Amino acid sequence: MNGQPLLVTCGLPYTNGPCHLGHLRTYVPADAYVRFMRHTGEEVVFICGSDNHGTPVVVSAEEQGISPRDLCERYHRHFDETFRRMDVVFDHFGMTDDPANHERTQSIVRQLIHNGYVYPETVQQCFCPKCSRFLPDRYVEGRCPHCGVMARGDECDQGCGKHLEPGEIIEPTCRICGCRAEMRSQEHFFFKLSAFRDYLLNYLDGLSGTSNAKNYAIGWVSDELRDWCITRTLEWGVGFPGRDDLVVYVWVDAPIGYIAFTEEWAKANGKDWKKYWCGENRVTHFIGGDIIYHHTIFWPALLRAAGYGVPKAVVASGMVKIDDHKFSKSRGYVVWTNEDYLDKGLPSDYLRYYLLSYTNHTKELNFSWKVFQDRINNELVGTLGNFVYRTLYFAHKEFGGIPDAPVDPTVDGEIAQTLSLVRSSMESYEFKVAMDAIMTLASFGNNYIQSNAPWKQIKEDRMAAAATVRSCLQIVSALSILIDSFMPERAQRIWNMLGNPGKVCERTLDECMVTAGPRVLPEPSILFGKLDDALIQDLDRLLEKRVEEANRKANKMKEISIDDFGNLDIRIGTVLSATSVPKSKKLLLLSVDLGGEIRQIVSGIAAFYEPEDLVGKQVTVLANLAPATIFGVKSNGMILAAGDKASLLVPLIPVSPGTRIR
Ligand code: MSP
Ligand code: ZN
Repeated sequence: MNGQPLLVTCGLPYTNGPCHLGHLRTYVPADAYVRFMRHTGEEVVFICGSDNHGTPVVVSAEEQGISPRDLCERYHRHFDETFRRMDVVFDHFGMTDDPANHERTQSIVRQLIHNGYVYPETVQQCFCPKCSRFLPDRYVEGRCPHCGVMARGDECDQGCGKHLEPGEIIEPTCRICGCRAEMRSQEHFFFKLSAFRDYLLNYLDGLSGTSNAKNYAIGWVSDELRDWCITRTLEWGVGFPGRDDLVVYVWVDAPIGYIAFTEEWAKANGKDWKKYWCGENRVTHFIGGDIIYHHTIFWPALLRAAGYGVPKAVVASGMVKIDDHKFSKSRGYVVWTNEDYLDKGLPSDYLRYYLLSYTNHTKELNFSWKVFQDRINNELVGTLGNFVYRTLYFAHKEFGGIPDAPVDPTVDGEIAQTLSLVRSSMESYEFKVAMDAIMTLASFGNNYIQSNAPWKQIKEDRMAAAATVRSCLQIVSALSILIDSFMPERAQRIWNMLGNPGKVCERTLDECMVTAGPRVLPEPSILFGKLDDALIQDLDRLLEKRVEEANRKANKMKEISIDDFGNLDIRIGTVLSATSVPKSKKLLLLSVDLGGEIRQIVSGIAAFYEPEDLVGKQVTVLANLAPATIFGVKSNGMILAAGDKASLLVPLIPVSPGTRIR
């Protein structure tokens, strides 16, 4: 299509932690889409950047004792490098904290105010009396007013997923000190989202992209549209025009980053950014299913209100799960892109293949190392790699290169059919269907070479063998161009092994059908290596360990105050008598002198001590433990012991019975 170029963006990663597999489900498919559209001859600009503002960044920076800007720069570089390592290549990767975005955001907010879409209102906000500050968004934890599940200040992330407005959360506590938050009133500014109901219904009707984005959005708009509080009491962010004490909410300046980054790119490349953002456009947002609301409702309304063009398409992926668990850094269900994958020497192409072909883009992706291994070994190694290698190897060995022979029309037909299926699937964001079609072509190639058996043909009819090989090489050539969007590194290798000059990424799809003349071919090398069991077991164990570690942290004893300790009545007592408890091998019944008071205590130490040896010994007793009946015997207190062998805690120097431990 000529005229309007395509602008593709990806959800901007927060700069508060490293890149993980969940992130990649936005970036890898977007990158594949962009590469593919370029193969069709489209002009595409691919824009992204890091999301630097908001409380997640401030909270992390505070925890690490560095400035938010330093934290952002660190993770900005990290994402930039990681994306390159994954062959996700943006035309520009900006930062929302850079001047271009501060300026564009303020200009848009002023425009919103000028157009009458912003109004002030005094609202009840969470305030921490101990830290003496307002608690925006992730500074607060509490319960969701809609579903009752534990939630963070601006979002019910573990439950119903609803966006929460400031002050809505129930039983709020401060994330920094754990103190119960109070409600205090404060003036904030609201965006009149409710005024866009009819506009949005009409807009969503014509929205392209994946059906999940559109359908969720239509449901929400039909439900209820509430105005959005667009200011926060925070020092980090884009200042709200005319107010020193307020910044704009991160979900205002983050999407505006898409525009600011386009401006930065345009400036560096002598282009006009307005062509992309003012009036009719072809903006396509790739995001994860967790941020559909922001991109299909809030963002187009904001653009419309400020007089900008609205996005043409929203492509939303299903969420990534790990071993059937919701993705969670704190619970250890996470796979880090660098630490767990790239740094282990695993190729980016394998992961790209897995992410693109696992399931439909809008469905959940349940990651497991075992399935990853199976897919790579069976499909990439067994089908694609096998076909490419045996074809190139046979051609090189028997003909020294591409033999001079015609391509079988059936093969041409098969390639043409694949091309059209891949194209229509990519245009409708069906990445799996496209990838499967390409693998089907590789399978076809395997069957073709197997049934024609050029290694037999060559003994009787060299021309027939040449024709088979020539046809197979045509498939290999088409595969090289076709897989470039999915596995760019391997695609280039095949391209080189076919003796082609230049870059396969610069070829158009039509060239899949172009037959190269006879030429010499280099000796091919193996394209895909198997992932062995030992490696996969190691990776599995790493994940297991991370989950265990997280559990340990989660179960970590709560810190207690000296007052809490004071509530424990621990005393030294002297054992007066000890007898076994009938029908129990583990229990002893002790009578203990606690100084003016004789206690009857049941203790699980029978396996380690003879009753008579205990008489007269001093022991340590938790004296204010609630009484219990054990094996039908009343027990009033607990004898303290350590370890598997129940080593009794005894005073080094004898003290009088009843002495308290302090
Ligand atoms: N900063 C926001 C996006 C602002 S866009 C104007 C954000 N950042 S993020 O770091 O949490 O996520 C970056 C991208 O990765 C988003 O597209 C998000 O949807 C995606 N994913 C992050 N975790 C994910 C999964 N576990 N599964 C699938 N995609 C998810 O959101
Ligand atoms: Zn909820």
